[in-house]
Amino acid sequence: MTYVAPNSIQARDIASIVHPQTNLATHMTQGPVVIGSGQGCFVTDDNGAEFLDAAAGLWCASLGYASERLARVAYEQMRKLGYYHLYRGTTNENSVDLAEKLLSIAPVPMSKVLFQCSGSEANDTAIKLVWYYHAAIGKPRKRKIIGRKMGYHGSTTASISASGKADMHADFGLPLADFVHTEYPHYYRDHLEGESEEQYATRLADAFEALILREGPETCAAFIGEPVMGAGGGLPPPRTYWDKMQAVIRKYDLLFIADEVICGFGRTGNMWGCQTYDLKPDMVSCAKALSAGMQPISALLINQRVFEAMLDESRKLGNFAHGFTYAGHPVTTAVALETLRIYDEMDMIGHVQRVGPYLQDTLARLMDHPLVGEVRGIGMITGIELVADKTTRALFDPARKVGARVDHFARKHGLIARLIGDRVAFSPPLIITEAEIDEIGRRLRLALDDTWAELQGRC
Ligand SMILES: Cc1ncc(COP(=O)(O)O)c(C=O)c1O
Repeated sequence: MTYVAPNSIQARDIASIVHPQTNLATHMTQGPVVIGSGQGCFVTDDNGAEFLDAAAGLWCASLGYASERLARVAYEQMRKLGYYHLYRGTTNENSVDLAEKLLSIAPVPMSKVLFQCSGSEANDTAIKLVWYYHAAIGKPRKRKIIGRKMGYHGSTTASISASGKADMHADFGLPLADFVHTEYPHYYRDHLEGESEEQYATRLADAFEALILREGPETCAAFIGEPVMGAGGGLPPPRTYWDKMQAVIRKYDLLFIADEVICGFGRTGNMWGCQTYDLKPDMVSCAKALSAGMQPISALLINQRVFEAMLDESRKLGNFAHGFTYAGHPVTTAVALETLRIYDEMDMIGHVQRVGPYLQDTLARLMDHPLVGEVRGIGMITGIELVADKTTRALFDPARKVGARVDHFARKHGLIARLIGDRVAFSPPLIITEAEIDEIGRRLRLALDDTWAELQGRC
């Protein structure tokens, strides 16, 4: 039990806030970590302890934690027009500029943009549009959304239903009907003895097709997937995976939603994960690095095929009956536009292409550690698998909470990573330097050594 001083921020937090993705019971006694300030890739807590945040918050603080330039843009916009909406045919110039910019850099030809405040809302909107599209073209039975086990698309009722996270469905009565999940690509953990990445990818695409045939192709509407899985473990797909999955998507005339909420804007070394893996989606959702995490904004890009169907529905129903109060908010769009300008000026994609391999090489050196079974990454995203036995790839008993121990020791050494069970994911701010990457490697090794020592001591 941690001592929580009366009237401290911690005590007031315990008394007033329900935290996302937190054990509420232990939180009542342990209280929160209070983050007070940030600069570059570092954040500082209320005790003055500094952490190198190798997770960029929640995969989003692409430019680090403070920006005079973005602050000025928000300030000026608030003085000029601090709020307006896009309802009933109203617009503002920032929204138009941002929509044009997104369409001009889209990974495949796209027709229109819908704005929201979060990745969840972008994916929720995409799911509604899948249903709307199929109703419009006279195929209302095509309702099923196929996601992947361990995929993550958000916390709204529909976006979490599309996600394959059993822990996030439990006792919420989810997923909703019409959501099914296919296998996810974790080559290291799941490949059979002697099975190549290509053979494994074929097996997963076959399982995907078998699922569609079991469910009935006439009921299957869309597939949703992240180019690189983030919350699933920082998992770049095996070779040929996306080619084979896309062949199945095309064969059964599914709409394809690419969830670029983490991958978009440079994370994988191209503007989009879709470009890294040659994906041809009908809709692209993006958020997070769109505004460097500094304003809550997301965008859903849709192609002409989807928009035509929406036009038909508007002719029939008299209205596109969907929307959010803060969609196209002039402050969020101003900050997003400036963020994209900064990326262009800094050549952010070039930076990730230059420095990303250094991150991958630095973390790959940890393969010599007894706890590390795999280091797999691309661009500025990496997953490290913690294993009990490197030869057999055996995982630890989850009860030993090895991931949580690494997290604890990493923080002790001033490093924040993202633990997903016994996989450590890294997605540092895109601006990170080679010297800071060296620090990630150094601090992580210390954390792994401490964890190893603790596990040995208890064996
Ligand atoms: C791939 C992906 N999609 C969607 C979301 C949900 O975004 P938000 O938390 O902004 O609703 C996340 C959040 O981490 C994500 O990683």
